Amino acid sequence: MRPNQKNILACLGDSPIISIDKINRLCGTNVVVKLEKTNPGGSIKDRPAVYIIDYAERHGLLSPGGTIIESSSGNFGISLAMIGAAKGYRVIILVDPKTTETNIALMKAYGAEVIVVDQKDDSGSYHKTRIQLANELAMRIPGAYRPDQCFNVLSCFAHKQSTAQELFDQTDGDIAGAVAAVSTGGQIGGLAEFFSEQSRKYVLAAVDAYGSTIFGGTAHAYKIPGVGLSWTPTNIADVNKIDFIYRIKDEMAFAAARVLCRNEGILVGVSSGAVLLAALALSRQLKNTQPLVAILGDSGERYLQTLFNDAWLNANDISTDTSLDSLTKLLDGLVCEQSSPTIINNDKPNLLRDLGVMPYTITDLRHVSETYYKPQLTLAS
Ligand SMILES: Cc1ncc(COP(=O)(O)O)c(C=O)c1O
Repeated sequence: MRPNQKNILACLGDSPIISIDKINRLCGTNVVVKLEKTNPGGSIKDRPAVYIIDYAERHGLLSPGGTIIESSSGNFGISLAMIGAAKGYRVIILVDPKTTETNIALMKAYGAEVIVVDQKDDSGSYHKTRIQLANELAMRIPGAYRPDQCFNVLSCFAHKQSTAQELFDQTDGDIAGAVAAVSTGGQIGGLAEFFSEQSRKYVLAAVDAYGSTIFGGTAHAYKIPGVGLSWTPTNIADVNKIDFIYRIKDEMAFAAARVLCRNEGILVGVSSGAVLLAALALSRQLKNTQPLVAILGDSGERYLQTLFNDAWLNANDISTDTSLDSLTKLLDGLVCEQSSPTIINNDKPNLLRDLGVMPYTITDLRHVSETYYKPQLTLAS
């Protein structure tokens, strides 16, 4: 018998696209979901992680015996931990108190070292303090490499080649468009670049957390993990390549993810609940005949202590109602906040300097070669 995959990283991608007929019938919508939890590390973040590490190896930024240092609320850190285990790198991940116990346990299971950063930044989140500390650590550890998902536009490029191209290959481009959550902007930026190069128009909607200020607004604390930032990330080269912006309140994202699980048997995380709701709202508005694709980033198993824990939900004033009907009420309460061509760009020009971003980090999409290359998925000897 010969194995049909060279190594675990070669199992990346080819995630399924699934109908959600019961929900569509109830809501009068035409939405399908692309299930990214089927990637080997369990989330969509495997795509940029594999891509960026491959790039770093090829360009001499990361060598055998090296250390990968990254700031991550969960999924990107887990992907890097998996890659580190497969390829033999030391991995250090800086997380924050919002990171679930499960995610930390997963990183550690792959052998990563985890540092919990509990100092909030000026926006009330932990992104800036985590990134700053990761950069300081990388300066002190010989052979360190910072993938820097928040500033490295290779993330956008990875999603353009991987997520967006795959979506097209799987559907022959016969879709209305896509809806994706935003944090580092890799997914939405990659989809935006890909769609803008097509001969016909595809609709693209970004889903942010209520309280995040990626597209302006007032910052406040929120509970949706993996979504949001306090500036427009460099991975989004042009905000007006996005057609619609939705900002979803915590309780709506949690409730929608639970409804999807109970009524379609699809167990996904909190950001996926937010994406699903936005996709349904947009589909109701567009009355699209071709399917609108909701990209669901990770698995609900990562949030068993919160999303699927009634005691936690009650303590946080989040509804435990999982009936199909509750979805229509959630949808009725949802409005699109911004639409192209007037989407707000929340640039913070001094951030690169203030946070000590490494000079080798590619922060401008124009500096990435348009020559597509596929990562070579080989294990380090
Ligand atoms: C589950 C999940 N969904 C969505 C996102 C946002 O994706 P991006 O960072 O590419 O904007 C993340 C980011 O960590 C995530 O973990």
